[in-house]
Amino acid sequence: MNWLNDFSGKIEPDAPLADRTWFKLGGNARWLATPASTRELADVLRLASEHGVSVKALGAGANVLVRDDGFDGVVVRLDQEAFTAVRFDGERVHAGGGANLMHLAHRCAQRGLSGLEAVAGIPSTVGGAIRMNAGGRYGEIAEVVEEVCMVDSTGRVHARRRDELAFGYRSSNIGGDVVVSACFRLRQSDAALTLAEFRRIWAEKKESQPMAERSAGCIFKNPSGCSAGALIDAAGLKGSARGGASVSTRHANFIVTRPEARSADVLEVIDHVRDVVACRYGIGLELEIDVW
Ligand code: EPU
Repeated sequence: MNWLNDFSGKIEPDAPLADRTWFKLGGNARWLATPASTRELADVLRLASEHGVSVKALGAGANVLVRDDGFDGVVVRLDQEAFTAVRFDGERVHAGGGANLMHLAHRCAQRGLSGLEAVAGIPSTVGGAIRMNAGGRYGEIAEVVEEVCMVDSTGRVHARRRDELAFGYRSSNIGGDVVVSACFRLRQSDAALTLAEFRRIWAEKKESQPMAERSAGCIFKNPSGCSAGALIDAAGLKGSARGGASVSTRHANFIVTRPEARSADVLEVIDHVRDVVACRYGIGLELEIDVW
């Protein structure tokens, strides 16, 4: 394919995605690029855009459902050293967009740097978490973001400071740009207390959510003023199944899958849940996960 002729980085054609997502479902990516530098990342984004090739950035794969027929475009994965490094600088921490969020939050807590405990138990990369403003009951990542460096579809590398970033509930104004790195501003606190808080939040998630099963976390956003999980539960949908996919009996906003499941099964469960909740409560549930 000629759009790749000018690309010097590593790119794999027809690459399986299922094992790179938490659902472990779905087809292949037409191409999978693993750039080794910001320059290579910029090149692949620019070339893809010039040739009309769709691009998706894949983080930890914990919030994505890949359709059974795969993704007809290039998937970019920032798992190389250039994108996973972490550097501490007083109350600031600089992390690559591909760095593991939980490891980062744990390392910060160990040093008594407080502010990222709220993301304990959220499987993500730094870039994925910032793009969708990951968080939960105890806070969101947006609260501690100071600056984000990203690459746009023309290959331009640019930084946005806190006041140029807009975050909402599970959303940001980062759009299709790919996060190269971020700087977080934390507060020096007591290490034992910060680590205890990190562990407490993580334990609470493990207690209420089916974290050991194949899922993509919460499927739907919470409608304003209520919990999607509570609504789905009240509608009697726990355990409701199509093929190998079912509504978790533990937390109703999770869909869990068995190894024989197809992505189409998950999509059918999603449609069914939406229909029942709309019919019974007049509420239209909005997806939190990305469907590729
Ligand atoms: N509930 C039920 N039945 C259920 C699930 C929940 O009755 O099956 C009730 C709970 O008892 C509680 C209320 O609903 O009274 C809220 O539930 P929960 O505390 O579990 O929080 P949530 O609103 O369902 C949100 C985030 C989670 C995050 C938790 C905890 C969304 C859509 N979900 O869930 O995030 O882990 O708070 O902080 O914002 C995710 O984003 O993937 C995710 C799991």
